[in-house]
Amino acid sequence: MTEHEASASAAPELFTWEFATDPYPAYAWLREHAPVHRTRLPSGVEAWLVTRYADARQTLADQRLSKNPAHHDEPAHAKGRTGIPGERKAELMTHLLNIDPPDHTRLRRLVSKAFTPRRVAEFAPRVQELTDQLIAGFAARGSADLIHEFAFPLPIYAICDLLGVPREDQDDFRDWAGMMIRHGGGPRGGVARSVKKMRGYLAELIHRKREALTAEPEPGEDLISGLIRASDHGEHLTENEAAAMAFILLFAGFETTVNLIGNGMHALLTHPGQRALLQASLAAGESGLLETGVEELLRYDGPVELATWRFATEDVRIGGQDIAAGDPVLVVLAAADRDPERFEQPDTLDLSRRDLQHLGYGHGIHYCLGAPLARLEGQTALGTLLKRLPDIQLAGESADLRWRGGLIMRGLRTLPVEFTPA
Ligand code: HEM
Repeated sequence: MTEHEASASAAPELFTWEFATDPYPAYAWLREHAPVHRTRLPSGVEAWLVTRYADARQTLADQRLSKNPAHHDEPAHAKGRTGIPGERKAELMTHLLNIDPPDHTRLRRLVSKAFTPRRVAEFAPRVQELTDQLIAGFAARGSADLIHEFAFPLPIYAICDLLGVPREDQDDFRDWAGMMIRHGGGPRGGVARSVKKMRGYLAELIHRKREALTAEPEPGEDLISGLIRASDHGEHLTENEAAAMAFILLFAGFETTVNLIGNGMHALLTHPGQRALLQASLAAGESGLLETGVEELLRYDGPVELATWRFATEDVRIGGQDIAAGDPVLVVLAAADRDPERFEQPDTLDLSRRDLQHLGYGHGIHYCLGAPLARLEGQTALGTLLKRLPDIQLAGESADLRWRGGLIMRGLRTLPVEFTPA
């Protein structure tokens, strides 16, 4: 226990069912009484939670913290059982979120070339088309589960298209990703099998695209072809790195977007005044409130509750707390983005908020690569739902909804809604 904590009232219990439903009161307590707090995670690992905005932002950019799990000073008896991604040393785990410069700089430069804002903007009609198709699948019924029928398939198909996975294979990805999201990415049988199948498929796809490029060097606007082309032009990128890159794009771009749509829609449906303002603005043909609104939804109840693992490579001091070399550090984005020292009335949802410097996409060299795509998907999905199904509402009570209890992400298991059939 730290000095701060000893003098305060009882610390809240973390990682319970109540906490998963609404972690914000516990985070408010931590920010005030134990802003850098050592805790035992459900996996048994001890880690530091950083909860204040200023500390969080600084920590995310601190190069003395490594992303490489090899820096974790893990007790011998717990080796390999801590659930820290990368410890299993699977080939797909040598990706952007598990590596440091100079490898990170090289790989990020390569993928940024293939992942340009222009490419994302060109993608807008496809995201709209996918959104319309999915809504058409349930509009006439008058009810739907927005997670399974909408938020879940949309980003999977979008990322598959972006990577260049042929349409006829995309339902396989939907199944594999479904298995991974349902079981939280843990090492259990079904998940391991799904990851294995995805790895095999990606390796084969990369191989096929390399052959196609050799036959005809210019085709393939897709991201995987772009990566192969970049590597063939003298940049060093192994096939394994290309597969890990495709995997992290799927992994980082999938559940996050599911939760952006799910948490975002949930927040709108439980804040009728804000939702009415947004609908009025959409009806008037404006896009400004939708744009600031999606950012505010990310701040207010974002998809990524905790940033991914970081490990101290030397003894460091964060927010007045000494942290030993080898200790894991988790930055609590959800706590930082509700810090009253940084945001006025942080617990109020205000879609027109001008102060949009939230940490929902991270900060520093690992800042979300897919942010432009996420914004496009979030704005298209939420805007279209409110326009097509104007009287959409929760079917049941918000308090009865179940939240998935994973460590890093925050999202709903289901989001049942009802509306006048359209
Ligand atoms: C990194 C959030 C969507 C690809 C990150 C990080 C955050 C984040 C917080 C930094 C993690 C850390 O520093 O530990 C989000 C949110 C999204 C979203 C809230 C949706 C609303 C996407 C999409 C893609 C994507 C759609 C790609 C298709 C990535 C990649 C990284 C990343 C590749 C690693 C970047 C690096 O390490 O250099 N994201 N993300 N994300 N995101 Fe996103």
